[in-house]
Amino acid sequence: MAYKICVIRGDGIGNDVIDASLKLLSHIDVDFDYTYAEAGYECYLKNGTSIPQKTIEACRNADATFFGAVSSPPDIVDYKSAIVTLRKELDLFVNIRPIRSLPIEISRPNIDIVIMRENTEGMYKGIEREENGVAIAERHISEKASRRLAEFTYKYARDNKRKRVTIVHKANVLRKTCGLFRRTVLDVSKKYLDIETEEVIVDAMAMRLIKEPERFDVVITTNLFGDILSDEASQLVGGLGISPSGNIGEKTGIFEPVHGSAPKYAGKDIANPTATFLSAAMMLDFLGERREGNRIRDGVFKTFSDGNKTKDLGGSLGTSAFTEAVINNLK
Ligand code: NAI
Ligand code: MG
Repeated sequence: MAYKICVIRGDGIGNDVIDASLKLLSHIDVDFDYTYAEAGYECYLKNGTSIPQKTIEACRNADATFFGAVSSPPDIVDYKSAIVTLRKELDLFVNIRPIRSLPIEISRPNIDIVIMRENTEGMYKGIEREENGVAIAERHISEKASRRLAEFTYKYARDNKRKRVTIVHKANVLRKTCGLFRRTVLDVSKKYLDIETEEVIVDAMAMRLIKEPERFDVVITTNLFGDILSDEASQLVGGLGISPSGNIGEKTGIFEPVHGSAPKYAGKDIANPTATFLSAAMMLDFLGERREGNRIRDGVFKTFSDGNKTKDLGGSLGTSAFTEAVINNLK
């Protein structure tokens, strides 16, 4: 059986990293039935919308979506971020962001963190207004979304033999919103006494991720905090060029690099495709093809161990040469 995969290249280096990844996936022992859909700024210029209904339906009907990156220009006031819209429309309630040490000089060793970011509400609900010279953003935190994120996180922790879950919040100041999030996660944690639960306030977390990243295991947090902390943490192990993510819901998922469209590198054979390769591996895990997912992760690891790197990591390989190296290292 072939898996139905919706492919969205998006903008900028989204094109480069998706093309490289489709090449890599053609060497994987799984059949894919691809459909291609449009989203992002180029799509907006062409169709007047950054996220056509047709694209949302294509993602909804796919087993999984493989997503590059999109540009979201901040100067168009009513512009909708395609990826944020998709996460909400498809109810992809968790954004999994693993941060793992790699065999490259700029990566700190012994880091293996999984950040579970709430993905449908919080500060990214998109409800903003201006009243009398004051701009107001609503932050929505629901018990429902917090609970299902917590259930997912603790189940993941147990299934993957993880030892500790760190709840990151700011309930000392945001007493209602972070308060509800904190209470709900703590309530779910009572069913998982085999896993240690701790709490860290978000500003302290930003500091401790730099000071002692080795001690963190699974981290659960709200949407905006997770967005910021995951970019920060990615820099400990090599930066945005290597950081993958999976947006997961009940029925389908979207797998994408954490980075954006980096327009200045687009089409120049410079972009590091590693984040997207590792996102493809997460997609394979999600489809139940973990063995093939591991083949990709092992291939990437071996490529780095051999000293092959793209320019953002201090190496000299372009996107295509690095892709060839990983393909040659697939077992
Ligand atoms: P960005 O992630 O596109 O790039 C930031 C910097 O990181 C780049 O200038 C580059 O130095 C480096 N970088 C990122 N990915 C790389 C890769 N694969 N290989 C080598 N170096 C890489 O973030 P930026 O510049 O803030 O945003 C550019 C556009 O992307 C904006 O329109 C923004 O809205 C959008 N964006 C989209 C996201 C998504 O599609 N999920 C996420 C973040 C930003
Ligand atoms: Mg981000």
